[in-house]
Order: sequence, then structure tokens, then C-alpha cells
Amino acid sequence: MNDKPHYDAHYTTTAKALHWLMALLLIGLLAVGFIMTEMPLSPKKLEVYSWHKWAGVTAFVLLLVRVSWRITHQPPPLPWNMGKLQQVGAHLGHIALYALMIALPISGWLMSSAKGFQTVWFGVLPIPDLLGKDKALGELLEEVHESLSWLLIAVLVVHVVAALKHHYIDKDDILTRMLPNRQRAQEPTEQ
Ligand code: HEM
Repeated sequence: MNDKPHYDAHYTTTAKALHWLMALLLIGLLAVGFIMTEMPLSPKKLEVYSWHKWAGVTAFVLLLVRVSWRITHQPPPLPWNMGKLQQVGAHLGHIALYALMIALPISGWLMSSAKGFQTVWFGVLPIPDLLGKDKALGELLEEVHESLSWLLIAVLVVHVVAALKHHYIDKDDILTRMLPNRQRAQEPTEQ
């Protein structure tokens, strides 16, 4: 529920924690994902694949928490002097990031199922396969998973460049309100 007054323009500590935890996890998953596919077949490669899958399932669980938090906690309003087009762009960018954060782990889960490799989360919790074994479908889903990863990288580059532009060129509080330990904004009447 957003019962905070308009001047209190910052993300909640939970939203910030989830944003930066997931940012680290997703950037790591992207890097490891591209590295592991180039590794020669070895026990090490299989181990790295397992860690990638476990981290992917973890990212998906965190995403469910994050979406639940987002639905029940409104983000702070965008700065009043931001143009309408930029505001629409910011919203579309965030929707694209959420859509990709959902689609990537699901495509990985489907691919792993179709390839016949069940995921056992941290070697403890078996995740049910979503599809029966199907080699051709597994290969198609691999292409989908890889294309979605490139798309996420492209959207992320725009996201980070936009955050830096707001901070260094527009000099507004878009970046700082997502950073930890930000002091609460003062009520406009107070100096
Ligand atoms: C160095 C990397 C990153 C920086 C500097 C950054 C910066 C920011 C900032 C400043 C905001 C707040 C925008 C606003 O106030 O309207 C934001 C929101 C957001 N970021 Fe990032 N971000 C980074 C990485 C990521 C990653 C890896 C993801 C996920 C793939 C991500 C997903 C999101 C989403 C979904 C929001 C919208 C939150 C909401 O209002 O619902 N960010 N980011």
C-alpha cells in the first residue's frame, strides 16, 4: 500500500535490497551462462551448469517475492519535470525487464526438461520437469534462452545508461533513490 506522502520519494529498503541482489545474481548468471557453454566437456563444466541452474531457480523465487512486493508497494513517482515520452519509456523499460526476468528462467527450465536433465535445486529439492524429453524441442528452447539473454543485455545497457544520464546529466534523484542508505527526503516545508 502506498500510504507515504508524495515528497517521500525513495524505494523501500526491501525493494532496494531485492533490486541489487537480483542485479548481482542476473549479471552473474548472464556471464556464467556465456562462459560455461564455451567450456570443453568435463566434470567441471557439468558442475558449473548445475550452479547456473540452481542460481536461475533462486532468481525465479526472488522474482516471485519481488513481484509480490511491487504489487503491494507503489514505487516513488517519477520526477515532475520528466517528459511524458521519457516516463512512458521508463515504464516500458521496467515492464520489459520484469518480462525478461520471468521468461529467462522459465525458458531455461523448459529447455532443461526437454533435454532430459532434471533440476535438483542445490542437489536437494527436485524441480518437476515441465516437458517430456524431446531433443529437437530442447535445441529450439536453447536458442530461445540464448536470444532472451541477448535481449536482456540490450535492455540492461539502456537501463544502466538511462540511470547514469539521470544522475550525471539531468541531476535528478532517480539513481540515488535506488541506492542504499539514502537519507529520507525532507518535507518541502522544512529546510
Ligand atoms: C548496474 C546495474 C543497474 C543499475 C545502475 C540500475 C539502476 C536502477 C534505478 C536507478 C532504478 C530506479 C528507476 C526509478 O526510480 O524509476 C531501477 C529500477 C529497476 N531496475 Fe535497475 N539497475 C541495474 C540493474 C538492474 C538489473 C540487472 C535488473 C534486472 C534484470 C534491473 C531491473 C530493474 C527494474 C525491474 C526496475 C523497476 C523497479 C520498479 O519500479 O518496479 N536493474 N534500476
